[in-house]
Amino acid sequence: MQLIDGKAIAQRINEQTRTAVAQLKSNGITPGLAVVVVGDDPASHAYVRSKERTAADLGMHSVKIEMPAATTQEQLLAEVHRFNADPAIHGILVQSPPPKHIDERAIVEALDPRKDVDGFHPVNVAKVAMGDPDAFVPCTPLGCQRLLIESGIETAGANVVVLGRSMIVGKPMAFLLMNKGRGGDATVTVAHSRTKNLAAVCAQADILIAAIGQPEFVKANFVREGAVVIDVGINRVTDRTSPKGSKLVGDVAFAEVAPKCRAITPVPGGVGPMTIAMLMHNTVLAAQRAGR
Ligand code: GUN
Repeated sequence: MQLIDGKAIAQRINEQTRTAVAQLKSNGITPGLAVVVVGDDPASHAYVRSKERTAADLGMHSVKIEMPAATTQEQLLAEVHRFNADPAIHGILVQSPPPKHIDERAIVEALDPRKDVDGFHPVNVAKVAMGDPDAFVPCTPLGCQRLLIESGIETAGANVVVLGRSMIVGKPMAFLLMNKGRGGDATVTVAHSRTKNLAAVCAQADILIAAIGQPEFVKANFVREGAVVIDVGINRVTDRTSPKGSKLVGDVAFAEVAPKCRAITPVPGGVGPMTIAMLMHNTVLAAQRAGR
């Protein structure tokens, strides 16, 4: 069983990004990333903090805006418009999910698609679906695809089951895997909570991507002997044995699934660091494109 070290792979990619940032700076362009978080969800704040910190560490101009839970739609839209108009900002990210009274779709549609480093704007969604190389690809599925490529796992002709159908992971993941080219050319099934015989469908997979958002949902009977499992889940659960009283687990019941796998990602240290590395990569792309 191969443990896919997302942390090490992400570090390698970040070093490439650091070089690209230095190159851009020598041409007078400092890549700029703005991250916005609304409300007080502690996990969202932790993610945004590490995005901002990584951007700064790689030499980028990094701006973090924290807005209270009572922020209005208009106030949030005003921030988006301000960053759209700011030439020092090449990438804008509004952490999802926002508080319930915010219309997330309207926020995403207000983004300048050229600064949409999350790949959430309809223009980028369409470009991903079309296999257009100019797309901004959502960071988590892009990171999963990169993990497969870097780990030497062939996707061409493979039966891949994507478990989950979100706009952030499941749907774009399915497009990336079915598109032509490296890390693609797969036979893709998208399964979800309403899929009949879900365990049996997942057990057909050569590669299973678990992105259903339920702690340890994928049990041993979901996984074929010799399959590759990519665990996208990051779920905080109570754990009386830890000093914190909680721990992070994935969407996969790692202890019972890992022994059956050819390769598997751990949580933490698998997909998570790759998401951030791909965000940094997308921000550099946005800056390079703006400078052309
Ligand atoms: N929430 C969970 N994943 C993501 C992501 O990749 N980008 C944003 N903006 N919010 C998220």
